Amino acid sequence: MCKYIINSGNKIEGTLKLRGAKNAVLPIMAATILNESISIIHNVPNIADVLVMIKILESIGCKVEYNDGTLVIDSSSINSFNIDEEYVKKMRSSIILMGAMISRFDRVKISQPGGCAIGARPIDLHLKALNCLGVKINEENNAIYCFRDILNGSEIVFDKISVGATENAILAAVKAKGITKIYNAAKEPEIEDLQNFLNAMGAKISSDNNGYIEIEGVEKLSKVEYSVIPDRIAIGTYMVSSVITGGKLEVEKIIRPHMEPICNILKLCGCEIEYSKNGLYILSPKKIKAIDIIKTEPHPGFPTDMQSQLMALMAVADGESKFFETIFENRFMHCNELIKMGANIDIISNKICKVNGVDKLYGAKVRATDLRGGASLIIASLVAQGETEISDIYHIERGYEDIENVLRNLGADIKKE
Ligand code: UD1
Repeated sequence: MCKYIINSGNKIEGTLKLRGAKNAVLPIMAATILNESISIIHNVPNIADVLVMIKILESIGCKVEYNDGTLVIDSSSINSFNIDEEYVKKMRSSIILMGAMISRFDRVKISQPGGCAIGARPIDLHLKALNCLGVKINEENNAIYCFRDILNGSEIVFDKISVGATENAILAAVKAKGITKIYNAAKEPEIEDLQNFLNAMGAKISSDNNGYIEIEGVEKLSKVEYSVIPDRIAIGTYMVSSVITGGKLEVEKIIRPHMEPICNILKLCGCEIEYSKNGLYILSPKKIKAIDIIKTEPHPGFPTDMQSQLMALMAVADGESKFFETIFENRFMHCNELIKMGANIDIISNKICKVNGVDKLYGAKVRATDLRGGASLIIASLVAQGETEISDIYHIERGYEDIENVLRNLGADIKKE
């Protein structure tokens, strides 16, 4: 089991160039099932979750090549309707294969993803959406069996916003007969990227960018070549890493509206941010200001996937901050690890905590509890006096490509051993 050993003292500065977004590429990889042809996808990060998705696609009969950030997937000869339990356990988001598989075939079996560390994460909305399109669902012995005759376009009204359920609904509706109207859909940039990818394949999806998506079913999709959007969460993580050390960072490739919810919060901390044509430049403040209330919300609100990284920053800010986590029920696991490093955090409930900025954090032996929580420990360790040892880093490697080299190239004293 590898660990990161990090010594503080260096500023995180320079130019950041990253590959595409984890949460965009995973549904796009699922969508390649639909065209029964070749999909070429560029800007794909080499992260554990992508490697698991490659294994799943291969296990059902796809031919996959992955070289230097480009994926070539041939989905013409899929010969299995069973998504193995082993993979669903490894990567909960493999549930997005359900919509694509039931669109292409008349049945699919996938195991129940169950709860996960950051929350219960039920899949009722996914199943409801598929059901609206005509899919019959049986749940038995921890497995979900989906069957269908014809998929018919329908109205899907979500009573709660869900990124994954919106993606499954889109994937299942692309080739359904007639029009599908989705209300209260998620508006995350990764949803838009999935739509753009599918439209490039020949789908007919339009959206008002305000929670309404309309899909006109098409009979056939074709070969496609596409490049994945930049990873707003990975970029945000490195921006916070730079800010905590008092550095300045240039980010080469961003999509401004995707970054604004994160940048607006960093501006409140005192950061100066300048946007260029395709990138941005961030300059840290002399003193990091505490933000009174930080509330996570669906896009375009502040993303839950940046909550823990921002908490590491608030741990050394000037004053008190309150965090309201509104998306997941158990997303404060990193708090106790930050407390081991000297952070002053009062966990009031599983949704609310108070952080009082301290003058100094201290290196400690800590454990990555989940992907973004793990990233928050790296951020804290960049200014913690002495050495920090972070274990269970496989959580971090699920979503950050080569994080130790990226940070080392920007000045960090970090090694993996
Ligand atoms: C996706 C992202 C994850 C991000 C999250 C919220 C991927 C691979 N993962 O996760 O990084 O943190 O969006 O932006 O893209 N819910 C239900 N029933 C359902 C589905 C969801 O109650 O059927 C609840 C969840 O428990 C959660 C909330 O809805 O409380 C939002 O979850 P959702 O948007 O579905 O998150 P994911 O798609 O799993």
